[in-house]
Amino acid sequence: MKVRTLLPVGRTAKMQKNEKVVAIYPGSFDPITSGHLDVIERGSRICDRLIVAILRNESKSPLFGVEERMQMLTEVVAAYPNVEVDSFDGLLAHYALRKGARLILRGIRAISDYEYELQMALMNRRLQPQVETVFLLAGEQYSFISSKLVKEIIKLGGNIAGLVPPVIEQRLHERLKVQTT
Ligand code: PNS
Repeated sequence: MKVRTLLPVGRTAKMQKNEKVVAIYPGSFDPITSGHLDVIERGSRICDRLIVAILRNESKSPLFGVEERMQMLTEVVAAYPNVEVDSFDGLLAHYALRKGARLILRGIRAISDYEYELQMALMNRRLQPQVETVFLLAGEQYSFISSKLVKEIIKLGGNIAGLVPPVIEQRLHERLKVQTT
């Protein structure tokens, strides 16, 4: 019996020769942290085109608007020629299909991230079987960083140097100055 007949329906289609690998790295990025940037750098090395995509229809009230976050991300990823920035509405699985992406990249910091990420990856696979989620490990020096904690620390007067790229640190200081004056 041929192996091919044993493959389940909906299995990821084989890549065509010379097909460019497009990957999406989705998230809120409010704001981008050094950990996110580390994942972007790693991701840019394993695909031909990496789209960093900000979710638009978020229920949380963000510190930075989508356009501001897009501008900040664009500045920070300028050094990577195969990385671009976009935003999306609705389901990630549908967006990935529209963009011709084969991969969804997600960063995993610790085992605590895994449960949520696994659930999302399996749901996205069910919605769009041809798109694979790939988990990347950010450098261990970033494993404790989150956008939420960075915002809390800076609001309470703590030092966030190194936790976010320098231009983002400056933007955070400016934003909080505006908010407190
Ligand atoms: O950085 P975040 O906030 O953890 O990113 C979460 C994100 C944007 C990846 C996730 O909320 C998402 O994909 N939302 C789009 C809506 C969607 O597809 N929901 C079903 C997910 S299985």
